[in-house]
Amino acid sequence: MSDSNPRHAAMAASTTQGVDADDFAGALLAGLNAGRKQIPCKYFYDAEGSALFEKICALPEYYLARTELALLARHAEEFAALVGADAELVEFGAGSGRKVRLLLDAVVRPRAYLPIDISIDCLLASAARIDADYPDLIVKPVIADFSRPLALPPVTRGARRRIGFFPGSTIGNFTPEAMVRFMRNAARLLRGGGLLVGVDLVKDPAVLHAAYNDAVGLTAAFNRNLLARANRELGAGFDLTRFHHHACYNPSLQRIEMYLVSAARQQVRIAGRAVSFVEGEAVHTENSHKMTIEGFRCLAAKAGFAPRAMWCDVQRLFSLHWLEAN
Ligand code: AVJ
Repeated sequence: MSDSNPRHAAMAASTTQGVDADDFAGALLAGLNAGRKQIPCKYFYDAEGSALFEKICALPEYYLARTELALLARHAEEFAALVGADAELVEFGAGSGRKVRLLLDAVVRPRAYLPIDISIDCLLASAARIDADYPDLIVKPVIADFSRPLALPPVTRGARRRIGFFPGSTIGNFTPEAMVRFMRNAARLLRGGGLLVGVDLVKDPAVLHAAYNDAVGLTAAFNRNLLARANRELGAGFDLTRFHHHACYNPSLQRIEMYLVSAARQQVRIAGRAVSFVEGEAVHTENSHKMTIEGFRCLAAKAGFAPRAMWCDVQRLFSLHWLEAN
């Protein structure tokens, strides 16, 4: 079918970088055979997991999403003034696309939108919705794992600068050292533009505890989805009732740590191999670092960004940082 509409041509031109189908099986077996068992958190986000995460964002305990959304809505015009006209917007971790719409609506003549995600289904679905709703915008989805060094196609013709958007405090999944590595790479990709990044702040551990141990058990289901996904995709034999969700704040490392804890001594078959768990054995599934405003600005500067504007709510729950890449 021929299509002379350039936006559709652009949508079709999604690029893939270093994401292969066997990744999950390999990473899962390697992680569960390690001395301290772990599963990389990027595997949370298959279609099931992404849907669970969207539900978590609507929970009263999970203040992150609604606080960030309110900050974006409140300061979108200020941000648009800083960004200027004719920008190309790159989103790290595309998600539902709800937040980026606030920016696309405020910025003057956004030229192109490059959502980057490893979850191909979510990426293409949300990119297609944005493509349909913004007729003048060139949408170029990029299937990639942004936790690894990343390259991007040249800046879209007609775009004056490239702006990165990394919402949700997803950057908190990185250790401070890995945050600096990520931002060094981002500063290179965004030279002449900048990065708008959402960062969750240090606060009363009780508030954090509630956010990651919600009353209806959605976070527990999200955590267990790693095992459910292994059952679905790899024919693994996990009994989900025999792994407990555990999330706690580690104050010396300033992070929420999530684990799946084996309720009994058990053996599970995964892709033809057996993995043993002793009673009470923990599988580390996520770190979610909490920062101070100054602490984060220091890391950004170390990575080569010039930290400029910062917006946060009056309760100082969550922050948005505008970092220039010169
Ligand atoms: C999407 C990584 C920001 O760390 O709060 C939600 C994921 N984990 N509940 C977070 C998550 C448990 C979330 N991030």
